[in-house]
Amino acid sequence: MIRSALSTSHRRRAFLRRPAALRCLALMALLWSLTACGTPLAQISTAYQSMAPSPDGIGRVYLGREIAQTMGHQGAGWLDRPSRLLQERPQAAIAALDLSPTDVVADIGAGTGYFARRIAPLVPQGKVLAVDIQPEMLALLEGELEAKGIDNVELILGQLDNPNLPPNSIDLALIVDAYHEFAYPREVMAGVVAALRPGGQVVLAEYRAENPMILIKRLHKMSAAQARREMAAVGLQWVKTDDRLPEQHLLFFEKPA
Ligand SMILES: C[S@@+](CC[C@H](N)C(=O)[O-])C[C@H]1O[C@@H](n2cnc3c(N)ncnc32)[C@H](O)[C@@H]1O
Repeated sequence: MIRSALSTSHRRRAFLRRPAALRCLALMALLWSLTACGTPLAQISTAYQSMAPSPDGIGRVYLGREIAQTMGHQGAGWLDRPSRLLQERPQAAIAALDLSPTDVVADIGAGTGYFARRIAPLVPQGKVLAVDIQPEMLALLEGELEAKGIDNVELILGQLDNPNLPPNSIDLALIVDAYHEFAYPREVMAGVVAALRPGGQVVLAEYRAENPMILIKRLHKMSAAQARREMAAVGLQWVKTDDRLPEQHLLFFEKPA
């Protein structure tokens, strides 16, 4: 199993400075690319079907939905586009989370950490665990954390089928514009559920598939009904759907206590 060596701020910085550690990161990247192209390491559910891939899909179908292709790190600039503030109103999404200062929040599919970086100051006695499968995304986030002096974000290199989070360790998992591209959503969410404390929440932000006016590729949008179906499949209970965002559903689920 590939687990992140980047577990604390101090170790994270030391890790990135050491040539041996960089070699290790390169090895992890190699392993990631191998697992991305082939069979992942853990046992995979039989819940998937195959089809001829759509232009933005991977040809794997889960509960009637074709899984989207992963957004490569080459597109990282798009995540931090200034127009995002108005287009998506990310501050409204963060306000909806109603965070406590001690919360431990996992940002799954964190990318460049657009959300992780903004949430970190709101949980000064807690922390953010930023999970992504692309080491390049985590490296970009690392640079931003250094530049801004943020020291309560930990970086975790996930796997296609495992977020590599410690069990019973998080209060909230936030997944923004990423779930639809998890290659093995059932396995990743099983790992997220195991990582949640009882009563902990999962919050999904996904572009609304019900609205054809939202100009996002088809497989990169999700309907609320589909999201609820997929979260129910891993034992999460729907709590509410918040409609405050202009283009995305904000769906709240809870791990039963
Ligand atoms: C469109 S980006 C969104 C990034 C970030 N959440 C944001 O809103 O700015 C999706 C991210 O999910 C990551 N991702 C895809 N599959 C993943 C998985 N199985 N586990 C963790 N991250 C994954 C991708 O590497 C990519 O960085």
